[in-house]
Amino acid sequence: MMPRPFAEVASVGVAVPPNVVTNDDLSRVLDTSDQWIVERTGIRERRIAGPEQSVAMLSQEASQRALAAAGVGADELDAIVVATVSPDRLMPSTACDLQALLGAERAAAFDIGAACPGYIFALTVAEGLVASGQGETVLVVGAEKLSTITDFQDRSTAILFGDGAGASVVRRSSGPGRGILSTFIKSDGRLAPLLLRPGGGSADPISEKVVCERSHYMKMAGREVFKAAVLAMADACDEALRRAGVTADQVDLLVPHQANLRIIEATAKHAGLPMSKVMVNLDRYGNTSSASIPLALEQALAEGRIGPGSVVLLVAFGAGFTWGSAVIRW
Ligand code: UT7
Repeated sequence: MMPRPFAEVASVGVAVPPNVVTNDDLSRVLDTSDQWIVERTGIRERRIAGPEQSVAMLSQEASQRALAAAGVGADELDAIVVATVSPDRLMPSTACDLQALLGAERAAAFDIGAACPGYIFALTVAEGLVASGQGETVLVVGAEKLSTITDFQDRSTAILFGDGAGASVVRRSSGPGRGILSTFIKSDGRLAPLLLRPGGGSADPISEKVVCERSHYMKMAGREVFKAAVLAMADACDEALRRAGVTADQVDLLVPHQANLRIIEATAKHAGLPMSKVMVNLDRYGNTSSASIPLALEQALAEGRIGPGSVVLLVAFGAGFTWGSAVIRW
C-alpha cells in the first residue's frame, strides 16, 4: 500500500441559491431581531432555495465546478459520496440522482448521514476508497436544503440554517507530503435526542399527527448542543493534529463548521490559533450543515488564504452527536 498521504483534495466547487434572506427579513415574521441573531450567532444572512432547486441540482452545480477545477471528467469518477441530512427523497440516495445528472456512469454512488461533519466523514470514506485501491478518483459532496426541514415558526432554530452545496474531487496524492495527512471521526448516539428530526422516518412515518405536531422539522436543545460542540471540537482539533504529527503553530488556516461564531472562537482559542488564521463565513450563509466546510474552504481558496503547501485544519460537530476533523497539506 502507498504511504500516507494516500489522497488529496484536488479541488472545491460550490453552489448556493440566489435568494438571500436577511435577519431583518426573519424579524418581520418571527419574534427576533438582527441584533440578537448577530450577537448570539454571528449570522447576518442565509440563502434559501426555491422549490425548483433540489439538493441534487445544487450538488450538480457544485460538482461541475469541482470537476472543472480539477480537470477531471465525470466519466473518470469511481465513486460519488454525498453527505446530507436533507436528501431530496428517502429512497434512492441523492448521490444516485447526482450520478445521473453528471453522467458519471462508472461511479458507485451513495449517501452518508453524518450531519454537520458530513463532509469530513465523506472525505474519510473517499480517502479509504483510494487507499484500499477501490477507486482513484472520488467525488465528495456536502449538500443541504435545510430550509425544507426547518420550522420557521421556531425562532430558536429558524434563524440558524441555510441552503447550499460544496463538492471536492479527492484523488491519489500527486506528490510526497501533499494531501490528507489525518482524519478523525467520532460519534455518541446517546445524545441523539438533543438535535434531531423526530418524525417522518420509519419509526414515526409521515402522518397528519406528525405534520400537526411539526415533528418532521429539526428540534434542538441549543444550549446543550453549544456546550458539547465546544468540547468535542477542541478535542477533535487536538486529535487530528496529533495523528498528522503537526503542531498548531504549523497550521495556516482553521476551517471550522460554521454554526456559531462563539463556538468557532472557543475552538480557535483552545487550539491556540488567532482569529486571523480562522475562516469565518457564517455571516453570509448561516449554518449549512454538511455544506459549511466546503463553502468556507472554497472562499478561502478564492481569497488566496489557502495555496500550495498550506496546512489546513478542518473541524466540525453536529447531530448524532457526530464530530470530526482532518489535517490537509494543500
Ligand atoms: O450545526 C449543528 C450544531 N449546532 C450548533 O452548534 C448550535 C449550537 N447552539 C447555538 O448556537 C446556540 O445555543 C443558539 C444560537 C441556538 C442559541 O443561543 P443561546 O445563547 O444558547 O440562547 P438560549 O437558547 O439560551 O436562549 C437565550 C434567550 C431565551 O430567552 P430567555 O429564556 O432567556 O428569556 C430564548 O427564548 O434567547 C431567547 N431566544 C431568542 N431571542 C430572540 C432564542 N432564540 C431567539 C431568537 N431571537 N431567534
